[in-house]
Amino acid sequence: MSAAIIDGKGFAETLRARVADKVQDFVADAGRQPGLAVVLVGEDPASGVYVRSKGRATEAAGMASFTHRLPADTSQDILLSLVRRLNADPMVDGILVQLPLPQQIDENAVIATIDPNKDVDGFHPVNAGRLASGLDGFVPCTPLGCVMLLKDRLGDLSGKDAVVIGRSNIVGKPMAQLLLAESCTVTIAHSRTRDLPALVRRADIVVAAVGRPEMVKADWIKPGATVIDVGINRVDAGDGKGRLVGDVTFDEVARVAGGITPVPGGVGPMTIAVLLRNTLVAAHRNAGIPLDRDAI
Ligand code: GUN
Repeated sequence: MSAAIIDGKGFAETLRARVADKVQDFVADAGRQPGLAVVLVGEDPASGVYVRSKGRATEAAGMASFTHRLPADTSQDILLSLVRRLNADPMVDGILVQLPLPQQIDENAVIATIDPNKDVDGFHPVNAGRLASGLDGFVPCTPLGCVMLLKDRLGDLSGKDAVVIGRSNIVGKPMAQLLLAESCTVTIAHSRTRDLPALVRRADIVVAAVGRPEMVKADWIKPGATVIDVGINRVDAGDGKGRLVGDVTFDEVARVAGGITPVPGGVGPMTIAVLLRNTLVAAHRNAGIPLDRDAI
């Protein structure tokens, strides 16, 4: 058997086009653009690439992009006062502080200072709590993108056995909550899990979000299972540049799975598309304009 390749890139393009359409309606109704502020502290090259592409995608969708670049030695107080200023700025609907932050800054303190109604990353404890309680709130972009791809491929997810490998606040935990909300039977696996291959072998849905290159092997996968690879790892390719691989050994797993996301071109593009969607939702909420979310 050979797995269907789940085209996250194509799905994300369609989602971005739908968001851009709705942005036009918002501008006509509100008399302003939705605004997204992105804050980058320091010079981490990967973060720099992400922040640039977020800014470009925001503008391409017709939204206002405000990028704040701060030096690596920025104090926590300076960053918190910027976040408070953005909280109070009526042109800013969404705020994203790019992680990781330099070690002198307490990430949790920064996330807790963002207004939960502008927290388009969905990282604020209020939004994590809303998700866990089944209440309306912002949901982290990467896991929400994964669920969109899963529902597009499989339809109703209820009753499916899902294993999420990884327990981060950014992906693993919200992913598990979202799958639970879809009535999956969810197991979260992590570094202390015993006999991970045997656990994964029971799953109809496998989400790999550990950051370990090509860790998930073909003999871990139940034939026909759907495999979502959140990993983006740069490995040595002997050319000085390296190549990107996921957390799943793609070629061999694709021979066993029913569907699989590639790296790159799978989950990655969904993160930015969902960020734009979350910003559009935030703008409607902040402006008091209703939005039919099922239409995007
Ligand atoms: N760093 C890696 N992924 C993310 C993300 O989705 N949001 C933020 N703020 N930082 C990240």
